[in-house]
Amino acid sequence: MRDVRDRPIGVFDSGLGGLTVVRELVSALPHESVLYLGDTARCPYGPREPDEVRRFVLQIGAWLSAQEIKLMVIACNTATASGLALAQQTFDVPVIGVVEPGARAAVQATRNRRVGVIGTVGTVRSGAYSDAVRALDAGVTVFSAPAPKFVDIVEAGLRMDDSALESLMSQTTDVFVRPSFYELARDYLDPLKRAGIDTLVLGCTHFPLLSTAIQQVVGPSVRLISSAEETAREVRETLEVRGHAAPAAARPAHRFVTTGDPEEFERLGSRILGWPTGPVEAVGVEELERLLTPDPESMASARPEEL
Ligand code: DGL
Repeated sequence: MRDVRDRPIGVFDSGLGGLTVVRELVSALPHESVLYLGDTARCPYGPREPDEVRRFVLQIGAWLSAQEIKLMVIACNTATASGLALAQQTFDVPVIGVVEPGARAAVQATRNRRVGVIGTVGTVRSGAYSDAVRALDAGVTVFSAPAPKFVDIVEAGLRMDDSALESLMSQTTDVFVRPSFYELARDYLDPLKRAGIDTLVLGCTHFPLLSTAIQQVVGPSVRLISSAEETAREVRETLEVRGHAAPAAARPAHRFVTTGDPEEFERLGSRILGWPTGPVEAVGVEELERLLTPDPESMASARPEEL
C-alpha cells in the first residue's frame, strides 16, 4: 500500500471545465499529483435531474476511490450542488466541492452585500449558493441567474480552432464571440446589474474561460469570483491538517482520464491548463455504471444514524 502522502488528489467534472480548478491546484500545490476524470461523454450535467447527477457522482467517486486517492475534489458546481453531501457520506476520503469556497470568497469580497451568481440550470435551481452564502452571512442577498449557453460557448470555442480559446480569454475583442455572445451575456447579466450587485460568482467551472468577456459586460465595478483559488486553498489546508500533504521532494505525476475522446481531451485540456496533459486514458461509461453504487434516493434521505 502506498504512503497516503504519495497518493494523488482525485478531481472530477462533467468534462473539461474542471481543468480550471486543476490549473489552480497544480500552481498552489506544486508537489501534489492529480488524477482527473472528465465525464465528457455525459456532459453537460447542468440540464439533468439531481438524482441522475447524484448517480454519476457515486459512480465516479467509486472509480476514483479504487485508484487510491487521498482526497476528492468535485470540480463541478452542478455535481457539488446535487451530490457533495452524499459523496461525503459515502467515501472514506475528505470530499471538497466548489460551491462553499466560491460562496466564502464572495462574502469576503462584497462591500454592498449584494452578490450575483451565474451557473447551470441545475446549480441555480438547487439554491446551493444562496444556502452557502446565507450560512456564512445571513445579511448578504444573493441574486442568481442560469447561464446554460455559456457552457456551450466554451465547448464550441474550444473545438473551433486553436485561436478561439486564446481570444476568449484575451483582453482584446475577438471575432468568435461577437456579437452574439454580448447579446446573450447582456440577457443573462443585465438583471443582475440592475439588482446592484458588486460581486459576481462564476458558479460553473467552465465560466472562468469567459471571464474577460463577462467582465466587459458587467463593467469594472463588479468583482468576479471563481472558486478555483479558494478551493485550492481549502485542499491545501485539509491535507496539511491531516498530515497528508506530499513531501517537498515529491515529483508530481498527473493522470487524465475521460469518458469521451482521449485525443480531443488531450488537445483541448492542454490548452486550458497551459501545459501538456500527456496521453489521456479512456474509461467507458459502462465501466462506471457497472460499479456497485448505493441507491442515491435512499442515501440522500438517510439520517446519519441510519448510515
Ligand atoms: N462544469 C459544470 C459546472 O461547473 C458545468 C457544465 C455542465 O453543465 O456539465 O457546473
